[in-house]
Amino acid sequence: MQSRYSVLFVCLGNICRSPTAHGVFQHLVSQQGLSGIVEVDSAGTAAFHVGAKPDHRSIKVASERGYDLKRLRARKVQSEDFHRYDYILAMDNENLRNLQEIMPDNPKARLQLFLEHSEQQRFSEVPDPYYGGARGFDLVLDLIEDASGGLLREIHQRLQQD
Ligand code: 4NP
Repeated sequence: MQSRYSVLFVCLGNICRSPTAHGVFQHLVSQQGLSGIVEVDSAGTAAFHVGAKPDHRSIKVASERGYDLKRLRARKVQSEDFHRYDYILAMDNENLRNLQEIMPDNPKARLQLFLEHSEQQRFSEVPDPYYGGARGFDLVLDLIEDASGGLLREIHQRLQQD
């Protein structure tokens, strides 16, 4: 019987893709009245930006769609996160490989690519937008909005079965 779920989004730096997923998913969770029931967090596999705010380009495109990322701060993912979270969701295959390397025995978390929850079929990874232009940040948001809807539908179903 499980009445609460926790979700950790992971990318490389925790300043572009995973904080965007954090903000979008948190927004959906609040909108559906599930704030006390579904916990949301994000982290990076690298430590370059620990303590930093999300990238200003991510903050901007997210705010244009009504999501507030300004209060988020980067942290590095830890092995212990596998015992704390129900879902650990990687943005790309490199993130997934790095997470598999630190995954402890008997994890609580289900580790998968975030876009496994997506409706669209074209992308299986959320492309790293860091060295690209503004359109990359819009694509990140499109993919994240799509997969967030799918993930929340799955969690809703699991909450109803419990
Ligand atoms: P993120 O993007 O993994 O989506 O946060 C990146 C942020 C920083 C760097 C690379 C990707 N970097 O090389 O500093």
